[in-house]
Formats: sequence, C-alpha cells, structure tokens
Amino acid sequence: MGVRGIGMPRLVAEIELGLGAFEKVGAIAGVHLDSLADDKPHAPADPAMSPQPVAVPSVPRAGRFADFGVRKPARTARTITPRNRAGPATFLPLQLGEKHMADQEFTDAIALLKADHRKVEELFASYEKARGDGRKQSLAGEICTELKIHTMIEEEVFYPAFRGKIEDDILDEAYVEHDGAKVLINDIEAGGPDEDYYDAKVKVLQEQIEHHVQEEEKPSEGMFAQCRESEVDLVALRDAMLARKQELMTKAEAGELPPAKPSVVDLAPA
Ligand SMILES: [Fe+2]
Ligand SMILES: [Fe+2]
Repeated sequence: MGVRGIGMPRLVAEIELGLGAFEKVGAIAGVHLDSLADDKPHAPADPAMSPQPVAVPSVPRAGRFADFGVRKPARTARTITPRNRAGPATFLPLQLGEKHMADQEFTDAIALLKADHRKVEELFASYEKARGDGRKQSLAGEICTELKIHTMIEEEVFYPAFRGKIEDDILDEAYVEHDGAKVLINDIEAGGPDEDYYDAKVKVLQEQIEHHVQEEEKPSEGMFAQCRESEVDLVALRDAMLARKQELMTKAEAGELPPAKPSVVDLAPA
C-alpha cells in the first residue's frame, strides 16, 4: 500500500510541518528532543520537581521523521494526517504481529491514552480465555509491548507536561505504579507459559494495570480529570505522543524494543 492519497510534495511539506510542531510540543511538555536522540533521560522542564524519567534507545534525529511514510512507503499506514490543530487527527497505527488495528480517531492526548487502556483491557480479557501455550505467549507478548510503549509515552511526554499543574502525589504514584508493572512485564517477556507462576504473573499484572487505569481515569479527582482542568494543550500533547508511539511501534515490529526500565524505583540486587 502506498501513502494514502498524498502526493510526495505535500507529504514532504507535512513532514516538515510535523517536525516543527513536534519540537514546539517538546517545549510545551518540558521534553528536550535532543535528549530523545541521545539516549539521555528525558528530564522535565524542572528536574527538581520530578523523578528521573526513563532513558530510551537512541534514534537518529533525521531518521525519526523520515520514517513517517517516506523511507518505506510500501508498508502500511505510517502516516499522521492531516495536521489540523482545530480538529481531530487520524492516526493509522502500525500493525503489530499479524493483527491490524482499525483506524482510530483521537481528539486529544487523553483520548489517545484511554484508547490504549481499552486495548490492553481487551488483550487481558482474551488472555483469560486463551487455551494453549502459543496463544498465551502471543497475547502476553502483545500486552507487554503495548504497556511498555504506553508507559514510555506517558513518562516522556504526558506526565512531565502536568508537573506543577496537578497534584504531585497523583503523578508520583503513577511513576511508582508503572515501575511495579515493569518488573512483571520484563519477567513475563523473559519467561513462557510452560513455567510455574506464568498465569499468575499475567493475572497480577492485569490487576495492577486495572488499579492504575482507575487512578488515571477516575472522574473528578483522577489524573486525567485534573489534567483537563489545566491549560496544557492536549492536542499538541496528542501529536507529540503519536509521533513517539509510531517510533516505538516501529522498533517493536523490528524486535528492537528494549526491556522496560524502572524510572523511580531502585531494584535491590538479588
Ligand atoms: Fe495510562
Ligand atoms: Fe499510566
């Protein structure tokens, strides 16, 4: 499939527009884009107010944006169109494994994160019904990949944008809850359904994520509700997270997504 209905000159113009918008959003979110490309931790605007976010693998700066429909145009949907700040953007996600995700519309950053939550809930529900080690391993792998990408875009882009604008406690607890989940995510990815405790680990991960999602989505006093009350540009944040998510999904497709890295919890050596 080619780049859908977009001539190359227009595509190039859109990519250039996207690059500028991404850098602007980086400033809004307190994320330093050079640190994204240099494997440095992604410090928020005021490092004293936040724990150290995760380090992410190095990606050549030019290559990040060249990926959006240019370098491999024959592959499916690696395009963000159109870049209309006033209205919803259409995000055509990459396929992971054999599964195509339907086209989705995300009106803002919170809509994007909620869609991620719903997808992981569906995957956990499928795992509960799954029979056979192959099916279980496939679903558990997909759950872990989705959660690794989701926690990264939240910690690199979303959470830092709200430091100082919503309750500190709710942000701090979110980082710690992520780190707790990452321990199980890495363990599940390294293991297999033929091992003892595998189903139990997936079940406990599900329970941890359900609690965390509730904390984020709780009406009125939850994290997202507080974020909506702030003046942070949720559409700009959506664009920044979509760009980073595309990049991470490309890595996942290539089998290059590293294990999840705890951000604030020190793991005592065994
Ligand atoms: Fe989330
Ligand atoms: Fe989260």
